[in-house]
Amino acid sequence: MCGIIGYLGYRKAYHILINGLKKLEYRGYDSSGIALFHNNEYNLCKTIGKVSDLEKTIFSKKMNLKGSIGLGHTRWATHGLPNNVNAHPHVSNSNELIMIHNGIIENHHAIKIFLLKNGFFFKSETDTEVLVNLIEYLKIENKSSLEEAVRISLNEVIGTYSIAIIEKSNPETVILAKLGSPISIGIGYNEKEFFIASDPISFLNYTKNVLYLQDGEMVILKKNKKLDLRKIVNNLKISPIIKKLKINLKEIEKGKYKYFMLKEIYEQPKIILDTLKSRLFISNEIIYINGVDSNKEIFTKTKSITIIACGTSWHASLIGEYLIEKLDHIPVEVEYASEFIYKDPIINPKDIIIVISQSGETADTLSALKLAKKKGAFVFGICNVVGSSIARYVDAGVYTHAGPEIGVASTKSFTAQIIILILLAIKLGKYRSTVNKSFSQFLYKELDSISEKINRTLELNTTLQKVSNLYYNYNNFLYLGRGIHFPVALEGALKLKEISYIHAEGYPAAEMKHGPIALIDEKMPVVVLATKNDFYEKIMGNIQEIKARKGIVIAIANQNDCQIDMIADHVINIPNICDIFSPLLTVIPLQLLAYQIAFLRKKNIDQPRNLAKSVTVE
Ligand code: F6R
Repeated sequence: MCGIIGYLGYRKAYHILINGLKKLEYRGYDSSGIALFHNNEYNLCKTIGKVSDLEKTIFSKKMNLKGSIGLGHTRWATHGLPNNVNAHPHVSNSNELIMIHNGIIENHHAIKIFLLKNGFFFKSETDTEVLVNLIEYLKIENKSSLEEAVRISLNEVIGTYSIAIIEKSNPETVILAKLGSPISIGIGYNEKEFFIASDPISFLNYTKNVLYLQDGEMVILKKNKKLDLRKIVNNLKISPIIKKLKINLKEIEKGKYKYFMLKEIYEQPKIILDTLKSRLFISNEIIYINGVDSNKEIFTKTKSITIIACGTSWHASLIGEYLIEKLDHIPVEVEYASEFIYKDPIINPKDIIIVISQSGETADTLSALKLAKKKGAFVFGICNVVGSSIARYVDAGVYTHAGPEIGVASTKSFTAQIIILILLAIKLGKYRSTVNKSFSQFLYKELDSISEKINRTLELNTTLQKVSNLYYNYNNFLYLGRGIHFPVALEGALKLKEISYIHAEGYPAAEMKHGPIALIDEKMPVVVLATKNDFYEKIMGNIQEIKARKGIVIAIANQNDCQIDMIADHVINIPNICDIFSPLLTVIPLQLLAYQIAFLRKKNIDQPRNLAKSVTVE
């Protein structure tokens, strides 16, 4: 959470900071601020609301925009309400040090008491203001350089951080440090300028040469000098490894779409093709997943697998459980990362733990992965963001390569995760001889047809618009599914709550009669996943139960299903596909339904309230 941006060079910093903040808004958008440095002075502006509100405030206050050095921040509140005072950058008591921070300083309270006793005062409720003043205290007390004070302070704090700090009287030096929260440095033209950001997509227009700071590292950036990378703990010099970014600018633009979420929903057929193109070679019957191929023995011999994730990635994990149990006969447990860490989990050396994360930065998932590794497990990652923390920590893994996902509600990363889980399940089935040749050939054929079938499913958008028009003002929705469709019901409900703020619950269809049925009346739309499978008649029974209580049924069913037409209020007919792959199709109308309802309710679809794209705090 929170987005950090900075610039040190020869260009006008203002536009770089503001445009960069707009690209980082997916990380938090409750308040924002910038500081520009010019002639050993700085100009600061902070405001509640979005970056567009910050721009308006800057112009109404006629802020001096001079300066080729600056810091900016977009916030997702952890300590203290979203308001102008709690917004970053934060300034030390003497007005000398200006700092931005992403993360949480867990022992901020004890440090604050110590500083109060030493005459310091605080304007905000943030842990960041505590840290910048601790740095100031140590700098004065030890008569040390800023660099030294930052190092000593960071060795005192408990928690996570990425910080950027500048001293007013010496603004041509910027110090950055990282533990837990991401921060990267773009090396600009002739190595004479530096871009700083939580996510390099915000400086992609200027440079593709990036240094990702690692945990426990700090870097001293000086104008016109080579960067100086060091270990926080002992000040040891480290050689920087500069990487070349492969992202294309088009991938982070909305193009013809009003919202990134819609663009990302429509990208799914292409992503599926891309993922399969580099991994599935049907004519040779080969599935290529490097991280699995090189650990064949572990995957072949394992007696169980645990999958750990949060949110939408957790729903994909439940689908993974179903696939792996069905195709490979391996027992699978799925855990919420946040619960896993605190339950003293039983993990044996060489147990397989799979962690799934779009961002690769989710703090809970990262902590779970570290715990699993500590206990000797073999940890395999499925991540989207290349070079992310989770991708770096795992023993082996695979990228979904779905491209940058900017809409806060996950869509394309979910389908990409399922495709990878399908490939993994078939591959393990072949290793373990639980998937025979004719079955795998059937599955490959089905996989080959998915992209085109998703394209056809997307054509249902107009029908979903009509359905949304009827129900967008309703207050509650229920989503029901059985078997592999239950996680899809959970995902449909999550999408609706996230972006339209309608209360929605996903439930296993048969569980409905054990409680939720009490909620059903003529004001309750129930979305039922009712494609043809072994449970079809059971699901039809559930639909009858809903209709008997005057509920409204929106059924996701297969083409040419006349039976369901007779009882459901609305039927969304999707193409036929084998049941274990059908989540890839059934989720599409649910994504579109949530989008259309949120659109009609005039919500900010890409930046829903209270949410942030990557949850980097526990
Ligand atoms: C839902 C959503 C969140 C994320 C969750 C995990 O639309 O976006 O629930 O799925 O925060 O994020 P990752 O996958 O980045 O670990």
